[in-house]
Amino acid sequence: MRISDPQLIAAISKLGVEHKVGVSLAPKTSLEIGGTSDLLVIREHEALPELIALLKQAGMPHRFLGGGSNVLLPDGELPWVILQLARRDTDVRIEGASALVDCAADLGRTVTTCAKNNLGGMEGLIGVPGSVGGALRMNAGAYGTQIGSYVREVQVYRAATGRIETLRGAEINFEYRHTSFAPDDIMLSVRLELLSKPYSEILQGIRICNEKRRASQPLNQKSAGCIFKNPPGGSAGRMIDELGLKGHSVGDARVSDRHANFFINAGHATQADMLELIDDVRKRVRERYGVELEEEVIVWKG
Ligand code: EPU
Repeated sequence: MRISDPQLIAAISKLGVEHKVGVSLAPKTSLEIGGTSDLLVIREHEALPELIALLKQAGMPHRFLGGGSNVLLPDGELPWVILQLARRDTDVRIEGASALVDCAADLGRTVTTCAKNNLGGMEGLIGVPGSVGGALRMNAGAYGTQIGSYVREVQVYRAATGRIETLRGAEINFEYRHTSFAPDDIMLSVRLELLSKPYSEILQGIRICNEKRRASQPLNQKSAGCIFKNPPGGSAGRMIDELGLKGHSVGDARVSDRHANFFINAGHATQADMLELIDDVRKRVRERYGVELEEEVIVWKG
C-alpha cells in the first residue's frame, strides 16, 4: 500500500520515521516470498503510538514485520503499510546476570553476545533465525530451550491501549510456540534473566546444537523453519516423511528432502503455491493419521 497524502508523509517524517516507497518485501523474509509495499522504519520506539494513531486517522491499514523468518506474505501490492523497527548498533546491554535486548536484534547474535559475557541458558536457540521480538511473540524454542523461560520483563506497544507498556515475565503466558500477546502487539525490548556460566561451557553447548541442526535441517535453503507445529506427543516431520512426501511440490514450493516439516521456496514460489502445498499435506496427514496439523508459519492473507 502506498502513502500518497503529502500531509501524512510530512507528519511521519516529523516523527523521525523513515518512509521507504514501494519496497520489495520478499528479500526481507526467509522464504523470499512476498510483494511490495511502502515501509516505515521506526528508529525511536516512542514514535510508535503517534505513528499508529496517524495511520488509523488516515484509514491506512498497517502490519508490523519483524525478522521475517516465520511469515508467509502475499504477492503483488500488499494491502497494508509495513512497519519495521530499525536495527540499533548496540542492541544488547549486559547488566549483571541479565541482558537488556532491543527486539529488532538478531536472535543468534544475541545468544552469542550473552555467551561472550558468560551468560548462558539459551544455547538451544542458537540456530533459530529471526529477531528477538519474533522469537518472543511465538515463544521460539529448540533442543529443550524456549525463550519464554528467560524473560523477566518486556516492553511492548499494545494496540488495545495505544500505549507502550512494560509487562513482567510472570504476566505473560508462554506455551509451546504460543504466547498471550495479542496479534497486533509490537515487542520493543526485553530483559532476559540468564544463567552465569563460563564462556567455554556455553560455547560447547552451542556447538552441539549447531551440529544437530546442521545434520537434520535444510539450513541453506529458503524456508520458514518448521511449517507446522508438532501435534501433542507427535512429530509433524516424521508423519509427512512416513507419507513419502519429501520432494513433493506445488510449483516451486517443495517439501524439503532433508526435513519433511520444512517447506522450501525452490525458485520463484508464490504464496498460493505454498498455501496449496500446506493444504495438500495437511489433508494427507488428516486422512492417514486423523491428526489436524496447525500452521506454525504466520500467513498474511491479502
Ligand atoms: N523425522 C523424520 N523425518 C523428517 C523429520 C523428522 O523421521 O523428515 C523424525 C526424526 O528422526 C525424529 C523426530 O522426527 O525422530 C523429530 O524430529 P526433530 O528432532 O527434527 O524434531 P522436530 O520435532 O521435527 C522440533 C522443532 C524444531 C526444532 C527441533 C529441535 C517444531 C515444529 N519443530 O522439530 O523447531 O528445531 O525440534 O529441537 O516444534 C521450528 O519451530 O521452526 C523448528 C524448526
